[in-house]
Amino acid sequence: MKVYKGEVYSLPPDKSISHRAALIGAVAEGITEISNFSGGFDNQSTLAVLQACGVTIRQEETAVREGSVTRNVVIESRGLWSLDKPERELMCNNSGSTMRMMAGILAAQPFESRLVGDRSLMKRPMERVAKPLRLMGAGIALSSEHTAPIVVNGTKELHPIHYELPVPSAQVKSLVTFAALHAEGESRIVESLPSRNHTELMLGLQVETLDDGRWSVIVPGRKIIPAQPFHIPGDPSAACFIIALGLLGSDSEIILRDVCLNPTRTGYIDILLEAGAEITLENIRLSGGEKIGDVLVRNSPSMKPLRIDDPAEVANCIDEIPMLAVLSACATGEFVLQNAEELRAKESDRISAVVDNLKRLGFICDEYRDGFAVTGKDLHACGKVSIDSYDDHRIAMSFAIADKVLPAELEISDAEIIGVSFPNFFEIIDSLAQ
Ligand code: S3P
Repeated sequence: MKVYKGEVYSLPPDKSISHRAALIGAVAEGITEISNFSGGFDNQSTLAVLQACGVTIRQEETAVREGSVTRNVVIESRGLWSLDKPERELMCNNSGSTMRMMAGILAAQPFESRLVGDRSLMKRPMERVAKPLRLMGAGIALSSEHTAPIVVNGTKELHPIHYELPVPSAQVKSLVTFAALHAEGESRIVESLPSRNHTELMLGLQVETLDDGRWSVIVPGRKIIPAQPFHIPGDPSAACFIIALGLLGSDSEIILRDVCLNPTRTGYIDILLEAGAEITLENIRLSGGEKIGDVLVRNSPSMKPLRIDDPAEVANCIDEIPMLAVLSACATGEFVLQNAEELRAKESDRISAVVDNLKRLGFICDEYRDGFAVTGKDLHACGKVSIDSYDDHRIAMSFAIADKVLPAELEISDAEIIGVSFPNFFEIIDSLAQ
């Protein structure tokens, strides 16, 4: 097995924060300068959709390091109602965040628009988008399966809302927030499980803890949002793959620089530490309201199997579960996941996708409605195993890491889907291989 050592300076800029920086820029008044914007396909879809709605966006490539291009983005906007009616349908490609959060902004614009996506996105649930926006007064039509296309009939007269999130979803919380920014009066969005809070932090919104332990995001309507600069830190969800490589690769030691360590995103690090992973967080500081720092990871051969079953824990590490499952299976032959049915509604059904591919590698798995267990292994010693990426970037990357640490040779279908969030994934891995 190869040894992986070195420093990573060019993790992809955080996908969630990049989307939000662009969308906030589009409803702010003035010129928003965003440094280190992500070149991933999903974030580029958000820029393209905003441009199709008449928002002026300039993108400059500034430097290339470890195969990645650094981008600065400048957005000029005239405030809350500056979008124009698009001349064509708005193609969000693979990006659920683009489709859902744009729906929130479009609900407040006085014209009709139509959001579409690729094969995977057109299958994902959108009733969670339609319900709050209809309650606020927008016209929202979905397919008979409650999926995209989303046809939005926006209105300048949105009502404020008091909305209790039915699923722990930062995308839904954010799309309601974006719509509520345009409503006449104050809205409140109540969560019972913590989802990522970048939108609240970036807009400086007040968050109130309720007597029953839940909390409420308070969104004042129709306030001018002055343009502000944003710098995008490294993506902790992308870091997870490189951390897994460092934990599994024999004698490996990797340091990742400038990673976003917002506690609503780092649940997976806590889970790994609890299982005995050698991970150290260093040089912790605040940047633009977000906690960032460096992550040092060392090969950890005596890690215990991972068990993820607490709903709050699941919500905090939802994007990292495929990698955590594959990591735990490779390291220990065991893994347990429960209370994670939401994982079936991602870019693929990630429960079935991980189980199918682990079985192809000889792992023994039981699949449940809301999770799965890996109970042992009968690994194919070597030879080729074909892996189905299910057109899902996180499935492709999880098994690409397994390919580096298992004796078998994995052939991953449509691996270019990795560009959705991590265009320089293989360049970084190659730069670390000794
Ligand atoms: C995201 C929220 C999560 C996550 C997605 C990005 C965001 O989705 O899975 O990759 O940026 O708000 P849900 O809100 O559907 O849980």
